[in-house]
Amino acid sequence: MPAAEWYTEFATREARGVSPIYERLALAVAHDPEVLALVETLPPGKQQPNLLFGVVRLLGGPAGGDPAAFHDFVLANWPAIELELRSRATQTNEAGRCALFLPVLAALPQPVALLEVGASAGLCLYPDRYSYRYGDHRLGSGEPVLDCAATGMAPPARLPEVVWRAGLDLNPLDVTDPADVAWLDALIWPEHTHRRDRLRAAARIAAADPPLLIRGDVLDDLPALAAQAPRGATLVVFHSSVLYQVPPDRRTAFAEVVTALDGHWIANESPQTLPYDGLPPAPDDALYNVLALDGTPLAWTRGHGQAITWFG
Ligand SMILES: C[S@@+](CC[C@H](N)C(=O)[O-])C[C@H]1O[C@@H](n2cnc3c(N)ncnc32)[C@H](O)[C@@H]1O
Repeated sequence: MPAAEWYTEFATREARGVSPIYERLALAVAHDPEVLALVETLPPGKQQPNLLFGVVRLLGGPAGGDPAAFHDFVLANWPAIELELRSRATQTNEAGRCALFLPVLAALPQPVALLEVGASAGLCLYPDRYSYRYGDHRLGSGEPVLDCAATGMAPPARLPEVVWRAGLDLNPLDVTDPADVAWLDALIWPEHTHRRDRLRAAARIAAADPPLLIRGDVLDDLPALAAQAPRGATLVVFHSSVLYQVPPDRRTAFAEVVTALDGHWIANESPQTLPYDGLPPAPDDALYNVLALDGTPLAWTRGHGQAITWFG
């Protein structure tokens, strides 16, 4: 997709109604030939709006949504920005996505052994430690509280019992390393104070009881890590917003490998990266992921875990 189109789509389908600052900036970039020319010198995967905006925030760029200030900062600091863009990928670690996994996880035979591929810092490995609010229905106690607007489903009645948590990532992040936390923070959209608070609260939980985080590839290193899961627990391999970073032929191979494991597979990915036959129409024109269990699609979900529309 040409960069201008990608930035327009990000503005209108991801940021609209979620981050007015990023909606404004993304539309401005889409119509800014100088910034686009720089962005287009990068490989396609590095042209991602989220990545550029995160790197500019990390480097202390203008925090407001002033397109002229953003333009000037990018042009003045391009060598430093380019260096970061080429060496990084978006690693947004959103504990809020646990509110999407919970309805499926809680319905599986307990206890569960969790293995997340593309785990970033592993904050989605603690669905049993967070609390949840689905409308009026509250589950769990303590912080962070994950708010999720649920449609078409009964809210989960219990938390899962987790006996093992492991993550696989090309570049695992460490919530006790200030540089890694700064990157996770920079990836959170500017107005999302509640997500920044959530990151801090979830990081405290992970730091107190760190998961097993392995540097490795979603496909090549999955079977060996899965083999370490304790017997007597239901193995659940899951992932969210990861496969768009994996080449298409390797996504297909990954689906075959995960299906062959003795356990369950929960995916939360865009239907462009992980397609399904016969999906019902999405609730509206915004960008949605599809939550699926063992290859069966169940629900439309929003990117940060803020909404789930069940159809399964
Ligand atoms: C957008 S983050 C999502 C993190 C987490 N799943 C969440 O939902 O909060 C995607 C993560 O996938 C990782 N990743 C991308 N390609 C990978 C691969 N081939 N093998 C393992 N991890 C990968 C990235 O390093 C990054 O941490």
